[in-house]
Amino acid sequence: MKNSIAICPGSFDPVTNGHLDIITRAANMFDKVIVVVAYNANKKHCFTPDERVEMIKKCIPDLLNVEVVHFDGLLASYAADCGATAIIKGLRAMSDFEYEFQMALTNKKLNPNVETLFLTTDAQNMYLSSSMVRQIASMNGDISSFVPEAIRQDIIDRINSKK
Ligand code: PNS
Repeated sequence: MKNSIAICPGSFDPVTNGHLDIITRAANMFDKVIVVVAYNANKKHCFTPDERVEMIKKCIPDLLNVEVVHFDGLLASYAADCGATAIIKGLRAMSDFEYEFQMALTNKKLNPNVETLFLTTDAQNMYLSSSMVRQIASMNGDISSFVPEAIRQDIIDRINSKK
């Protein structure tokens, strides 16, 4: 795909090794990938959008075709504005499917020029979620297998500051 642009949206609250695996694989498939830190109306976010953007940037200094932005509007509009032809999402298990399917169909309705592509998660990240990372960190557990070293302390400090 020449000059292809994909967006990789999510809450990333915080980004995990599972997200980073999907972002890295997307970066190998598209000329440019824009990671979009977006607002999920069904979630109460822990980290601010700027903190989430900064943490993702810290984890991917070598992915030169990846940009990280914060966007608070409709994802379908963002995709149209930046010329993206694909929305990349990771699928962990069947439990993700219904929610992701609904979002993919809605985004297609809002922007028929964008396709949602699902990448199956790596087996070792099947169980991994941002909420699990937050919960483990808040109970002083070891999160080093779930997030890169570059942001481990940022997560711990932020979560401790909220206690
Ligand atoms: O990581 P998440 O929380 O599962 O990601 C969901 C997210 C943020 C991608 C989704 O809620 C979203 O697209 N939000 C932006 C607003 C929007 O476009 N809503 C309609 C989606 S069908």
